[in-house]
Amino acid sequence: MDDLRAKYLSRIGDASDEAALEEVRLAAIGKKGEVSLAMRELGRMTAEERQQAGPRLNALKAEITSALAARKAALEDAGLEARLAEEWLDVTLPGRRSGRSVATGSVHPVSQVWEECTAIFADMGFRVAEGPQVESDWYNFDALNIPDHHPARGEMDTFYMARADGDTRPPHVLRTHTSPVQIRAMQETGAPIRIICPGRVYRADYDQTHTPMFHQIEGLALDRDISMANLKWVLEEFFSAYFGKSVKTRFRASHFPFTEPSAEVDIQCSWEGGTVKVGEGDGWLEVLGSGMVHPHVLRAGGVDPAEWQGFAFGMGIDRIAMLKYGIPDLRAFFDSDLRWLRHYGFGALSVPTLRGGF
Ligand code: PHE
Repeated sequence: MDDLRAKYLSRIGDASDEAALEEVRLAAIGKKGEVSLAMRELGRMTAEERQQAGPRLNALKAEITSALAARKAALEDAGLEARLAEEWLDVTLPGRRSGRSVATGSVHPVSQVWEECTAIFADMGFRVAEGPQVESDWYNFDALNIPDHHPARGEMDTFYMARADGDTRPPHVLRTHTSPVQIRAMQETGAPIRIICPGRVYRADYDQTHTPMFHQIEGLALDRDISMANLKWVLEEFFSAYFGKSVKTRFRASHFPFTEPSAEVDIQCSWEGGTVKVGEGDGWLEVLGSGMVHPHVLRAGGVDPAEWQGFAFGMGIDRIAMLKYGIPDLRAFFDSDLRWLRHYGFGALSVPTLRGGF
């Protein structure tokens, strides 16, 4: 029996495709397979012999069966890998033109604005950092100096992930802001650092100006002597490039657990004729939260607050897209209505660049 075992386990291991594996299966435990035949012999044995051989044969059959299954799964995985390596598509290529006119897709305003922001901040030395949308509550809250029972955890209308029965660890959340990426980026590279993080965030909220999923762009700049003055310059530079004209900003004292001091930033606008015009008039519109990164947050990211300091900000991408392109209802952004997409969408091949102008 040991010989049978050794022989079939090694043949299973050697089978290089599913057909070969099936041959081994037939030879071992198929109707006329060696193990099956040996089991048939049991009938001819004495009761005593059968008591010995029966359980051993059954165990052998079970072992071969599970080895076959494991090998089959491994071969299927390898097959899939090979197909994936072979059959790929470059989805970034432009569509092929057929004889008749081809309907071309368009770039969603969120994607467009995301790219515009990235281009502008890249020009100021910010690189793009990313983090997961399903985030641990440590990164989303604790590391950002939002303690356990702080009202912000409720205020933010957080989506909590389900937990397995009996799991007592804090549940993961759909990140409520892009700020956890500050921590991840600091942990990755330490200071000095200059990053932006565009991404999706989630809060349980739904009306004309709120959707349960929306987009933010986070900024973080740390060095030995970065101050609020640098923040103000960076933001004014950003808004002027983004809106294509000089835009004044107004800083209002505010509070965030992760910055100290904190400021909400408004941009200059006019409200005449029921439409908002940015960069003129004497009205103001809130567009972002910001401040000097709190020492607790620096420490959570592994950065020494005695040596490094800097600013962070978080801005709504959808909000500034609405402002620049005159889109009145946020909810329409995520309705996937083709007429809306054709009207507000951008040409797929006109990549936003500073030189080209937006
Ligand atoms: N995370 C804050 C929000 O979502 C914005 C913010 C980011 C404020 C960074 C200060 C610093 O409202």
